[in-house]
Amino acid sequence: MGSWRVSRTRAPSAPQTLLVPGDKSISHRAAMLATLALGESEIVNFLPGSDCLATIGALEKLGGRMTWLARDRLLVRGGQQLRSPGQPLDCGNSGTAMRLLAGLMAGQNVAAQLHGDDSLSRRPMHRVVDPLSRMGARIEALGQDGCPPLRIDPGEGLRGISFAPPVPSAQVKSAILLAGLGARGETSVRESTPTRDHTERMLPSFGVSLERANGSVSLAGRQPLRAARINVPGDFSSAAFLLLAGVIGQVEVRTDSVGINPGRTGFLQAMERMGAGIRILARRQAGAEPVADLVAAPVALRGARLPASLVPSAIDEMPAVFAAAACARGQTVIQGAAELRVKESDRIAAMAAGLRALGVECQETPDGARINGGSVRGGEVDAQGDHRIAMAFSILALAAKGPVTVKGVELVDTSFPGFTKVARSLGLSFESIG
Ligand code: S3P
Repeated sequence: MGSWRVSRTRAPSAPQTLLVPGDKSISHRAAMLATLALGESEIVNFLPGSDCLATIGALEKLGGRMTWLARDRLLVRGGQQLRSPGQPLDCGNSGTAMRLLAGLMAGQNVAAQLHGDDSLSRRPMHRVVDPLSRMGARIEALGQDGCPPLRIDPGEGLRGISFAPPVPSAQVKSAILLAGLGARGETSVRESTPTRDHTERMLPSFGVSLERANGSVSLAGRQPLRAARINVPGDFSSAAFLLLAGVIGQVEVRTDSVGINPGRTGFLQAMERMGAGIRILARRQAGAEPVADLVAAPVALRGARLPASLVPSAIDEMPAVFAAAACARGQTVIQGAAELRVKESDRIAAMAAGLRALGVECQETPDGARINGGSVRGGEVDAQGDHRIAMAFSILALAAKGPVTVKGVELVDTSFPGFTKVARSLGLSFESIG
């Protein structure tokens, strides 16, 4: 297991402008849709992190032909009938890869088994197995209590359904829409709480027509997909850790060309409630997605009661919110965040344990935590192999009174290749300690 000791060095003397890698969610979807689309698609600023590379590996085994034009630029020749790979597909640490591929493959009527690492093997899959079965897919979760591996067998072909996911989940919504592409009739997904809508935004670029109204999205199955060029914006979730550094550190931080899809930016509202106004500059459209340059400046944070309604649009940034709360004077209440318990780790438990190890009073609740912040000391925390927990505690070292040793950091490249290099430019040093 990898560990590093993170220490504060001299703060940079000037504001820092940083580029964040491409968006993970959008990269997964672009590769999958390009594999279905007839012709040559080009994906620019693709995220070459291990999660998205797992998707690429699986798509190649299903018959997608991938050529790397650069480390973050991918040419996909798609449109062939997908083939059953005859070997298990490894989704690594990625819930998005497993759930979205399950939908895509069920719709294309291929047979395959999907498996993942220890963390992914503990994550619930009934949320996609149940609706896909209703569509007529022959899909089964082979692990305990509906966990991976997943087995998909060819069936009679899918039929569209009308589905309302019981938990707000863009992965579930997207899995059903991807399955719907191969189904007879219409598929529609109705959400009571909006989640990131990258799939719905991207499908028309590949020539798919769909309808969106009042929280639902509907598409007719068996429409031909045609190749597209997709420019992937910077990943808001990666930017959030750097913006956190701007807020709790010594120097202003600016991240350029970052996606600001409204289903992703709840972190900005959380910071606002805690007293940090992160500025949104040069709002513009990059293809189907809104992007902007974001600027965060050091400020004294104050605790706040964060509404549950904010959580779905900040779901991946909640570790950064916990870290901010540790620095804020007064109490921060996080609620309505039970989904965090079934992410790459139990993120409520992992953040609460780590904060307590750094001397911060933090009481776990079933769906969140109460954090009394203000003073953070050095110490040792366990990221439990979860990339976002590793980044949250590493950045928190900027505000800690001593070095923070973070165990279980080996998967940090999952979403943010080069994280330590960027974090060094913010005044942190990383000493690998095995
Ligand atoms: C994702 C959706 C979210 C998020 C994950 C990526 C996606 O998961 O946490 O990192 O790409 O659709 P849920 O949809 O399960 O909330």
